[in-house]
Amino acid sequence: MAGPTNSRYREIFAAWGANAGAFWAEAAKAIDWFKPPRNIFDAGAGVFGRWFPDATCNTCYNAVDRHVLAGHGARTALIYDSPLAGTKRKLSYATLLDEVVALAAILRDFGVAKGDRVVIYMPMVPEAIVAMLACARLGAIHSVVFGGFAARELATRLDDCRPKLVLAASCGLEPSRIVAYKPLLDGAIALAKHKPEACLILQRPELAAELVPGRDHDWGALRDKVLAAGRMVDCVELAATDPLYILYTSGTTGVPKGVVRDNGGHMVALVWSMRYLYDIQPGEVFWAASDIGWVVGHSYIVYGPLLHGATTIVYEGKPVGTPDAGAFWRVIAEHGVAALFTAPTAFRAIKKEDPKGALLAQYDLSRFRILFLAGERADPDTVRWAESILARPVIDHWWQTETGWCIVGNPMGLGPLPVKHGSPTVAMPGYDIAVLDEAGQPAAPGTMGSIAIKLPLPPGALPTLWENDQRFRDSYLTQFPGYYATSDAGHVDEDGYLFIMGRTDDIINVAGHRLSTGGMEEVLSSHGDVAECAVIGIADALKGEVPCGFIVLKSGVERPARDIEAEIVQLVREHIGPVAAFRQVFTVPRLPKTRSGKILRGTMKKIADGESYAAPATIDDPAVLDEIGAVLRAAKPA
Ligand code: COA
Ligand code: AMP
Repeated sequence: MAGPTNSRYREIFAAWGANAGAFWAEAAKAIDWFKPPRNIFDAGAGVFGRWFPDATCNTCYNAVDRHVLAGHGARTALIYDSPLAGTKRKLSYATLLDEVVALAAILRDFGVAKGDRVVIYMPMVPEAIVAMLACARLGAIHSVVFGGFAARELATRLDDCRPKLVLAASCGLEPSRIVAYKPLLDGAIALAKHKPEACLILQRPELAAELVPGRDHDWGALRDKVLAAGRMVDCVELAATDPLYILYTSGTTGVPKGVVRDNGGHMVALVWSMRYLYDIQPGEVFWAASDIGWVVGHSYIVYGPLLHGATTIVYEGKPVGTPDAGAFWRVIAEHGVAALFTAPTAFRAIKKEDPKGALLAQYDLSRFRILFLAGERADPDTVRWAESILARPVIDHWWQTETGWCIVGNPMGLGPLPVKHGSPTVAMPGYDIAVLDEAGQPAAPGTMGSIAIKLPLPPGALPTLWENDQRFRDSYLTQFPGYYATSDAGHVDEDGYLFIMGRTDDIINVAGHRLSTGGMEEVLSSHGDVAECAVIGIADALKGEVPCGFIVLKSGVERPARDIEAEIVQLVREHIGPVAAFRQVFTVPRLPKTRSGKILRGTMKKIADGESYAAPATIDDPAVLDEIGAVLRAAKPA
């Protein structure tokens, strides 16, 4: 291990390695079970085994009820801070319980029961968290869809999980505009084959939505009625292995993957991480500046902090522009945040606006201890800058929607390990990580390879994809038998530190948002004038990566390429959503290909990023690479 350390990490990791069952049995004691687990892991169940197969529990009970029952009802559960709406609100655990029970009663009136799916299409408002917890209370499976996705993306998800009900808000708020959600929801329902039975619409004061008679219902009016009646809805006893939620994430095609999360393993893993990775005590304020539409939001805006009895922040704003680059420092100071978790892109945005961190001086950050970064590679420049202005530990950690919690990190609660810039540090207990070469053999230290996790995956990680065990096997388990393939590449050093260098598939990370270039290519090729296309992720100083499209027009197309390019930009916005940040597309005479017809996207990316490249031996015509370079050079501002 690099440098001296008093960390208990080695000892704890070794204890897990020696007896994973005993390790997770001990961690499971942090959860209140209806029926505690006797069998910790059943290797014969599910695709690769199931955690806590004989236990029963309820996630809402652990996240809310038990804190109230333990006498902590007055403790703040959630702080809503919206510079965009100009609103701040605090909900105690007792109030949160009342709200969750009221919504659970409403959902039950609509016939929602254990196993039913409920889609939540909401901005960052407390009601979205109440909605997730109300589903969890009933054993209904929620599927939250990020507000920056367009109608078609929502429709795909409706068709895949077939919800009984949709919960939505009338609008979301972005700095430049009010995003009307209702037309997007109506559009999605029109496009989808599956029609939900009803929609509950939260009317926000910024923009009221017109309700479809018979299908749409005013959430606020129903809530008031139920609260006045003082109805009670108990937590439903669920198997630990029952699904808590489905979260769709980009796959290598336009069809997203429905990552399933169970109840029991998820709770055990998240509580362990709150204590030993994030080093948070119950009652402290933990802020994940993300969105509930992403896994970071599920795990660390909603479930992790609440299961642990901490206070979470629901922030509806941006790191810059709401109103300035001091927004994060204001929230930290005002609410006494102990740890912040965000994506490096947020810090790049702050650095761009306030390179010296001058705005920090206005705020009292005395209760702030640690910054955690994840969601994309934390480039050493950004990490160093954050360290210098904050004078506190800046901790990178690596994980995925699929795992639900950290794979590689620096366990602050066990005592910090020395930080190496560019590395998220070491494997967490639960993860036996290997860097494999193309033949599936372990790569030597320092040598790049595919990062794989030896099965079984730990509690909290996905047991399968929604109603699609086969896709789960094909996507993750077949490339390296006995392992889960992460689709990330990297290397491990002699101290066991991992370095994550990038994806091996077509996934790109745009401002910490995970997107599929394959999905974008499907949209580009749907344009009538496009013969073929390629989309690559190119380096971007702010967002890490942004998509860049190349199109070849069908022969005989006479219209100006500029018009077609503008239509294509619009098409991606309509089909995938503004979050794709798809703004660049170039018309080229042809695409570089191998002799067998494979588009050389990797080489195109190197050209676009200004990196050195060698024309692959298998290239059909090397001159095409010069053509691509010329088009990109011509587009660059002088
Ligand atoms: N609902 C509707 N639209 C949304 C949205 C939402 N929830 N979130 C983003 N969008 C829209 C934006 O308005 C923008 O639209 P535009 O093209 O009309 O301007 C587009 O999607 C791109 O948004 P974004 O990626 O947020 O870029 P930005 O330029 O507005 O802001 C950052 C850049 C860096 C400030 C911003 O990306 C950010 O705060 N990132 C933090 C990282 C993060 O939260 N990651 C999540 C995983 S941890
Ligand atoms: P998501 O599923 O949206 O969380 O995205 C997961 C992907 O983001 C990973 O597979 C990585 O490619 C990337 N990623 C997340 N965190 C990190 C990190 N700390 N360092 C490098 N890449 C990361």
